[in-house]
Amino acid sequence: MKILKTQVGIIGAGPAGLTLALLLRKQGIEAIIIEHRSREYVQARVRAGLLEQNTVDIYKSLGVANRLLKEGQEHHGVYLSFDGQRIRIPFGELTGGRNITIYGQQEVVKDLTDEWIAGGGQIYFEAPATKIENFDTDNPKIYFEHQGEAGIMDCDFMAACDGYHGIGRKTLPSDTFKEYSVTYPFSWLGILAHVAPSTDELIYAYHERGFALHSLRSDKISRLYIQVDNDDSVDNWSDERIWEELAIRLGTEGWTLKTGPIFEKGITPMRSFFTDNMQAGRLFLAGDAAHIVPPTGGKGLNLAVADVKHLADGLAEYYQQNSINALDNYSAIALKRIWRAQDFSNFMTTLFHKQDEHGSFTYQLQKAKFDYIKVSKAYATTIAENYVGLPFEAFE
Ligand code: FAD
Ligand code: DHB
Repeated sequence: MKILKTQVGIIGAGPAGLTLALLLRKQGIEAIIIEHRSREYVQARVRAGLLEQNTVDIYKSLGVANRLLKEGQEHHGVYLSFDGQRIRIPFGELTGGRNITIYGQQEVVKDLTDEWIAGGGQIYFEAPATKIENFDTDNPKIYFEHQGEAGIMDCDFMAACDGYHGIGRKTLPSDTFKEYSVTYPFSWLGILAHVAPSTDELIYAYHERGFALHSLRSDKISRLYIQVDNDDSVDNWSDERIWEELAIRLGTEGWTLKTGPIFEKGITPMRSFFTDNMQAGRLFLAGDAAHIVPPTGGKGLNLAVADVKHLADGLAEYYQQNSINALDNYSAIALKRIWRAQDFSNFMTTLFHKQDEHGSFTYQLQKAKFDYIKVSKAYATTIAENYVGLPFEAFE
């Protein structure tokens, strides 16, 4: 039996777990991470790409932003397209200079893992947590497996950063929270392709054939998404069909979409989910373990980072000032941003996806919103400030 002992036991080496570990190290608090999957698997998982200003600022403060600042691309605006008409929302003048940075989540995960290990941090890969015990005492325990051996991690606090399917949420007593869940009647087919982006900033598009998003990863790699049915399969989507559909949906006069070899295809369902309590005793949930937003607003990774910032602040207050107040307040403070992100993600999703027939009442409401963005600085500002992310002070 492997016995580990630390101050904060962290389950999961996604953005939430790794960022928490580094924030705690900065405060002189010990942590150990156990991760179900292999290091290769976690670092190859293709996911998000949009980092809010808050997220970039945290990575700068942790000294892990060198590659992000060099290879990531800072964007000062975003294009919105409706029925082939494209407009731009400029962030600078609407948000007082806040921006977003495009940098792949798997690159973030690589940078954080390297930094954690380089600083002597302990992390066990292929080590699934199997049970959480004693969360309501001051001697909580995480049971896990590693290389065929059973293990126990004794800790003061446990952070379940173990994603939607993890064991953290399942351990919360069912009478301490309420779950909210919406499943959308469409999914995203996401691709990565070896081709220079056909745009300098992201394009979100409504088209009568469905939603499309043009994002990017570098000067040579583009990331694009299209709305597909929930029961669709990547097997139905040849490279040729994908490029044809993207060109139609993203199209606007005088613009052409460059195409190239596609090297990654995957389908993601669209869901809003969250629990209105993220803690019990000495167990705290963070990131996708507690909430999922549809990806249209680019909020998931950023919410995970915001959660662990609050959690690390609470743990620092506990260890440095012997006060449990901030920890007691963790769910309440995190939930303010989560509700905001749920609303904005739902807004972006319902504005840009095809939900009903062209010309229907729902379509007319979508079009009315787009037409309003075009003429109202107030409405455009609402979108810009949510998209780049509100500062931490806004919810504290
Ligand atoms: P995860 O990244 O899921 O990490 C959880 C970790 O816990 C995993 O490594 C898992 O293996 C591990 N684990 C699970 N169970 C156990 C266990 N029992 N024991 C040990 N380890 C365990 N977000 C954005 O902000 N911007 C975007 O542009 C964006 N786009 C997206 C596009 C797509 C296609 C998808 C799928 C998601 C997107 N997201 C986006 C969401 C974002 O990727 C997630 O919100 C983010 O990964 C959450 O991080 P996390 O650390 O909470 O969870
Ligand atoms: C990306 C993903 C998103 O969901 C989004 O809203 C913006 C960008 C991306 O993968 O680059």
